[in-house]
Amino acid sequence: MAAEETPIVRLEDYRPTDYSIETVELDFRLAPEATEVRSRLRLAPRPGTPAGTPLALDGDGLVLKSLAMDGAALPAEAFAATPDRLTIHAPPARPFDLEVVTRLDPSANTTLMGLYISNGIYATQCEAEGFRRITYFLDRPDVLAVYTTRIEARADEAPVLLSNGNLVEAGAIPGTDRHFAVWHDPFPKPSYLFALVGGNLAAVHDRFRTMSGRDVRLAIYCEPGKEERCRYAMDALKRSMRWDEERFGREYDLDVFNIVAVSDFNMGAMENKGLNVFNDKYVLVDPETGTDQDYAGVETVIAHEYFHNWTGNRITCRDWFQLCLKEGLTVFRDQEFTSDMRSRPVKRIADVVALRQHQFPEDAGPLAHPPRPTTYREINNFYTATVYEKGAEICRMLQTVLGRHGFRAGMDLYFERHDGDAATIEDFIACFADATGTDLSQFSLWYHQAGTPTLHAEHAYDPDRQRLTLRLQQDLPETPDRRPKHAMHVPVAFGLVGPDGQDLSFRRAEGARVDDGIIHLTTGSAEITFDGVTARPVPSLLRGFSAPVRLRSDVSRDDRLFLIGHDPDPFSRWEAAQSIGLEFLRAGTAAVRAGRRPEFDGRFAEELGRLAANDELDPAFRALALMLPSEGDVAQAIGSDVDPDAIHEARLALQSAIGETIAEIVSEAAARNAPAPAYSPDAGQAGRRALAHAAWSLGIAGGLIGSEDMLSRYRDAGNLTDRLAALRLAAHHRLGCADEALSAFYEQYRGNALVLDKWLMVQATIPAHDTVDRVRNLMRHPAFSMKTPNRVYALLRSFATANPVGFNRADGAGFRLIADVIAEIDPHNPSVAARLATAFRSFAMLEPARRAAAQAALSDLSARPNLSRDVGDILLRTLEG
Ligand code: TRP
Ligand code: ZN
Repeated sequence: MAAEETPIVRLEDYRPTDYSIETVELDFRLAPEATEVRSRLRLAPRPGTPAGTPLALDGDGLVLKSLAMDGAALPAEAFAATPDRLTIHAPPARPFDLEVVTRLDPSANTTLMGLYISNGIYATQCEAEGFRRITYFLDRPDVLAVYTTRIEARADEAPVLLSNGNLVEAGAIPGTDRHFAVWHDPFPKPSYLFALVGGNLAAVHDRFRTMSGRDVRLAIYCEPGKEERCRYAMDALKRSMRWDEERFGREYDLDVFNIVAVSDFNMGAMENKGLNVFNDKYVLVDPETGTDQDYAGVETVIAHEYFHNWTGNRITCRDWFQLCLKEGLTVFRDQEFTSDMRSRPVKRIADVVALRQHQFPEDAGPLAHPPRPTTYREINNFYTATVYEKGAEICRMLQTVLGRHGFRAGMDLYFERHDGDAATIEDFIACFADATGTDLSQFSLWYHQAGTPTLHAEHAYDPDRQRLTLRLQQDLPETPDRRPKHAMHVPVAFGLVGPDGQDLSFRRAEGARVDDGIIHLTTGSAEITFDGVTARPVPSLLRGFSAPVRLRSDVSRDDRLFLIGHDPDPFSRWEAAQSIGLEFLRAGTAAVRAGRRPEFDGRFAEELGRLAANDELDPAFRALALMLPSEGDVAQAIGSDVDPDAIHEARLALQSAIGETIAEIVSEAAARNAPAPAYSPDAGQAGRRALAHAAWSLGIAGGLIGSEDMLSRYRDAGNLTDRLAALRLAAHHRLGCADEALSAFYEQYRGNALVLDKWLMVQATIPAHDTVDRVRNLMRHPAFSMKTPNRVYALLRSFATANPVGFNRADGAGFRLIADVIAEIDPHNPSVAARLATAFRSFAMLEPARRAAAQAALSDLSARPNLSRDVGDILLRTLEG
């Protein structure tokens, strides 16, 4: 079916099911090619359901073996079964049992949705609509049932058998080579949270005593031999459990909490009740095989999935339009956790970098949608940066608007009022409104309007009247839904920085509500006057990135240079540097295109040098401040007629100019702040390493570090983080030693797939036109496989999303490569193929030749027969936009 013809699911069509499912008893007989699933459902008509209303259960490619009601086989005329639906024509008007037997072939399941086998391990993935690939069911999040799961398998093939909840019984089946386990989950849950795992797994075990004194047994399962690599994840889990108690008063609720790491997984991890299943990339780390970034990633994802136990599982979503109810809130919670574990300002900057890299482009292109959409064709395509990252920003703004105390009161009410519910965004907002007596109707527009607002700011200071006048205006862009936009509530955290670098006080502010360092902009524009400002201030706006907007302010370059050195808010210091960098990069790009040499103001480099040399600042912060806006950021800022090669050249030129001025200063600062020789993944050490890598990068750009120097840094590296940084710089700057370092790295980590992913990624992101050919060659390398999402993401997604020069090659070779790959992956894994297809979302802003080449590649792809709904939906929206 062509994408245009797939039905559109609409929020307005929501209504509860006619039948509820009280209990589910599942019985799995695992076998690689013929697994039998017996499902006993206790169903009941909901009050008001007319007698004889048909019951339609969802399926997806199922084979029905038998069907019985209340213990008796159903006659053929009483039901209709297709692979995708099971309809009981006239069920009884009272509670009844239905027993459905299906037969599956997990070994043939390459989609990694439903029940599949990863490296010999049985695993399930049911969110969003994978449960219907296992058995016929009301496979939607507002049908909550209590599950009991019996699993039977050959003892040698699957010695470990896991499911949700607590283990109630296990043992051998006498006279056979088989054994079984029975799990019971007392908490009613939707089908998307069901999970089963079976296989030959090893584990690390630990325990956690909850705040009320209950003991919880913790285990992390992995392939035998990798147990030691689970230690850090276990530590992160215990810290997450403690943090959720302390910060949100949330206690864990089952006797066991299990995590399983599998190597074939479409996304990061999954929060199945009591049995989280993880992409092994987010579990397995040790000093030999994990970088600082990997450790941070493990900590974040472990926390994220754990936090879902309350925000997602105990309170789930009424329908998939409400996805950001659980995802945005849970991302916010994991961001807060990381801020408390590590450095708050550094975490905030990293999150804003990620938001600008992923969410802003999505919001500015054809795939833009509100955090709470109202229609979809394929729900898998809505696990987006907007739902996750912008959703988290909305929660953060809510906390900013209500204060930490008010936010906590709203959360407490949410848990109290909705525990056990399938809730909506409106329910969520109502808790904060009720708990604090605040009208949040305008605030909630953030959930319903797509597009990134632009915030314009102009200011004037009148020394005679000691008055600052600030004009703010919000502009809401048009988005693919073409809906008219209303002014939003934009919380603008600010300070008026005086000549000594301290915030100036003011007597009175008029023109908008101003309190506790926040201007509440609730109208399209506002003119705010601050009286009693005794010296000319530099406005520092949007401190801590208090709202996900693009700020266009008239604060002069001189004043922003001053803010880099003086703003009391570290985020704003960083942002001041970014904004100047971006200005230079835009002008530099225009110069390159006009055949001129880009020119830069040397004071910028000097200011960065002072910042880098300031040992009172966190090295991690300094490293971030030295990082120029990415090529993607520059493309976004230019917005149309984009030439990625010119951007790249301008950025290299700016890096050289900065490097020539301050490489030595930065390198001395890095030397003074060198980490202790013994590797530890903590944020302090990681920041010191990041500063050293910034020094290397500027050293190369400034001509201080050559190929030989880089090769010795590569060889001297005492840990993977340093080694990889050296490898990346050597490869990306095409130093003479690049090939030698690449082959040394390959030899050292041969056989370690997760580490070789980094090797693939470094090569895929070499900013050069011939990287297309290199990637095509690497697709035939034994370290690569089209069947494993981690490999595809490492080589192909990073090429398509993190290599603007390569992907956007003017002759279209990059586009064709990715289009070919999408066509190759789609038949076996539509989710992964659709994720790759989103790489085209910004094609319309390219200069005409590239735009035409991208369009041609997309049109060819969409003309192919039998595209999945996932890919078809992305292509349709991308081409329509
Ligand atoms: N709910 C998961 C999370 O964010 C992510 C998820 C959704 C997922 N659908 C998935 C993971 C499919 C793997 C496969 O925590
Ligand atoms: Zn999540």
